[in-house]
Amino acid sequence: MKKVTQKEMIEEIQKLKKKKKAVILAHNYQNPEIQDIADIVGDSLKLSEEAAKTDADCIVFCGVHFMAESAKILSPNKKVLLPVKDAVCPMADMVNKDDLINFKKENPNISIVCYVNSSAEVKAQSDVCCTSSNALKVVEGLKEDTILFVPDINLGSYIKNKLSQKNIILWTGYCITHHRVKGSEVEKVKKLYPNTKLLVHPECNEDVVKKADFVGSTSEIIHYASTCEDKEFIIGTEMGVLHSLKNKNPDKKFYLLSPKLICSNMKKTTLEDVYKALYHENNEIQVEEEMRKKALKSLNKMLELGR
Ligand code: 13P
Ligand code: SF4
Repeated sequence: MKKVTQKEMIEEIQKLKKKKKAVILAHNYQNPEIQDIADIVGDSLKLSEEAAKTDADCIVFCGVHFMAESAKILSPNKKVLLPVKDAVCPMADMVNKDDLINFKKENPNISIVCYVNSSAEVKAQSDVCCTSSNALKVVEGLKEDTILFVPDINLGSYIKNKLSQKNIILWTGYCITHHRVKGSEVEKVKKLYPNTKLLVHPECNEDVVKKADFVGSTSEIIHYASTCEDKEFIIGTEMGVLHSLKNKNPDKKFYLLSPKLICSNMKKTTLEDVYKALYHENNEIQVEEEMRKKALKSLNKMLELGR
């Protein structure tokens, strides 16, 4: 069989996309060539908003399973495809429906806030969702003073430290990519690049977050570095963001805080996977209707409070 070049593959994807009235969404952590063919690249909040308002017939979600599931919850009448079936987020699996049902039995008056990096069944058991870019706004906007935050202990701690008026109970899940970066690595990199601002994701552990000059979601980090007058930055999030950072700021330099900042699940999707997903329309995401309606309530409340 004739080997297809990358250029030919991209042309075929564009043709199929038109024919099937599809839109390609990609997270900021995707491989550069995937970000380049996507119609929209963004953080979890932007991608949820786009999934809710697109008029395409089909959404090809280049990201991990919970993201495609959120798109299906928000757009039930559209076909949602995840090009790689086993692209999952290990943190999302660190809490499940039964954990929350048991918690509610013992604590019936405590509201549950779930990070969007969670399954549909967890969203369905929660009162409201949040992303890393709206977590502070969402929790601050809740009338309840005591809340359970699941699953990310690091994002939860970040909010807890900012909102002392709230009693925030933390779950013990974490992102395996961000959590493994140690505070001692910050010291080393800061010695190499003194006077260079450190921009980190709140999924990093507290030791790293407290040494940062700016804490934000992937898109917030890209926005900060692109609008700040400084010419060099240390980046404390998954290496995929370097693609946008370099494209938007060819005159600036970016140093990755640690070589460990790579999410193997986000890197699974290739151009061939996107082509095959569009061609065969396989790996379709389904969410059972009763659960979908409950999870939608949590996502809608987030879109309302997080505005
Ligand atoms: P954001 O793009 O919303 O910052 O999410 C980061 C992340 O880890 C997604 O899995
Ligand atoms: Fe999950 Fe972390 Fe990978 Fe995001 S970067 S998908 S939170 S493991």
